[in-house]
Amino acid sequence: MAILIRGGTVVNHDHSRRADVLVEGDRIVAVADRLDAPAGTQVIDAGGAYVLPGGIDPHTHMEFLFMGEVSADDFEWGTKAALSGGTTMIVDFCIPGPGQSMLAAYQDWRHKGEKAAADYGFHMAVTWWDRQVFDEMETVVKTYGINTFKHFMAYKGALMVNDDELYHSFSRCAQLGAMPLVHAENGDVVFRMQEDYMAKGVTGPEGHAYSRPPEVEGEATNRAIMIADIVGSPLYVVHTSCRDSHEAIARARAAGKRVYGEPLIQHLVLDAGEYMNRDWDYAARRVMSPPFRPKMHQDSLWAGLAAGSLQVVATDHCSFTTRQKRIGMGDFRKIPNGTGGLEDRMPVLWTAGVNTGRLTREEFVAVTSTNIARILNVYPRKGAIAVGSDADIVVWDPAATKTVSAAKQVSRIDYNVFEGFECTGVPKVTLSRGRIAWLDGDLRAERGDGQYVPRPAFSPVQVANATWKQLTAPKPVERVEVTP
Ligand code: URP
Ligand code: ZN
Ligand code: ZN
Repeated sequence: MAILIRGGTVVNHDHSRRADVLVEGDRIVAVADRLDAPAGTQVIDAGGAYVLPGGIDPHTHMEFLFMGEVSADDFEWGTKAALSGGTTMIVDFCIPGPGQSMLAAYQDWRHKGEKAAADYGFHMAVTWWDRQVFDEMETVVKTYGINTFKHFMAYKGALMVNDDELYHSFSRCAQLGAMPLVHAENGDVVFRMQEDYMAKGVTGPEGHAYSRPPEVEGEATNRAIMIADIVGSPLYVVHTSCRDSHEAIARARAAGKRVYGEPLIQHLVLDAGEYMNRDWDYAARRVMSPPFRPKMHQDSLWAGLAAGSLQVVATDHCSFTTRQKRIGMGDFRKIPNGTGGLEDRMPVLWTAGVNTGRLTREEFVAVTSTNIARILNVYPRKGAIAVGSDADIVVWDPAATKTVSAAKQVSRIDYNVFEGFECTGVPKVTLSRGRIAWLDGDLRAERGDGQYVPRPAFSPVQVANATWKQLTAPKPVERVEVTP
């Protein structure tokens, strides 16, 4: 069925204009000042609201077995939560189990993804290095449409990889036209600090924050940037949470390196004080890595989004229930790491970003949708209100309000780290590939409505990060015979 969105202001990352938008099937077929509705068209009156490209969250963990527990939102409920908050696509991390082949892990994730109510893609994790990983990376890129590989520099003894493994994997990414992603924290130092705090009797959630200071993130970010530069690959730093890491990224970009940074909505508005709450459950629910930071780091992250040195706002949605968090009572190292945020990302960012003047509405679109569509090579199929793009559209009411409340949320967990946050600016309607998924508080999306979105490899020009190579690669020299 055709749908006409009439009377709104279309906001793309580069401009806004008063325009109607016509959708036929799963695509946008016209964007113009004034459009007539063909017979049988459903008309949505935008009533002066904004018409935005659906949000894309490039960092989620659905039904993820981590630290002995499976995260509570699966693809069905995670994507339903996303749609209710204006996000129409997620990119989840496919993480092979110990010894598992990437190809088998991909099949497992595709199976989990069948439940999705919104579109989804995957990043593939590299958690060790051998010939099989080297070979399978090619299939992952060329056959499965995954052009990003994730590396954990933390979680020693579990997912962590060392510099040698990073070097090999980043090189392979560069060969394949893929991009490495890093969770940048120095896992060896975190491990030692955790031991030290436990030995001193600091066993509560605050020990989690103490043992992962900004310095460990800054160091790992610099190290990953150096390795990427040496092998000639771009780099994407997930959950950039602090000034140390942001400055490393900004410096690299100023030197011409293709390095991207992704703050989370949690790190932009919640700070380390959360871990000092005397209520153990309250503090443990907020345990994630990297942890929330002292407030001054937030200014740096906001500045990075405005200046363009940071490009994307994500959630790292990895939701564990209070019951699951309690496994770590008496030992903060055992609290499953992760928080939710998918349905709150866009309303909270609009409220804290656009309503305060930190971001323009076009910058909001850039950091919630377009930039990541471009970085992940799915633009303009995703990330734009344009003819030919998927009809992933949000009618955004900048005056409507909502107070975040776990009691009313779609997500399956029993709390919300943004509880009580008053949002002004919420989605009135969310269209997911041409289907009404959310309408004035009514969740219409159904399990299985989502589709897998493959992403082609980057061209060599898109990935070339040639600064170090250009400057230092030895030039072939002609040997000169010297006769005595
Ligand atoms: O605490 C977090 N972030 N949990 C999910 C796994 C990860 O590190 O992204
Ligand atoms: Zn991480
Ligand atoms: Zn994550």
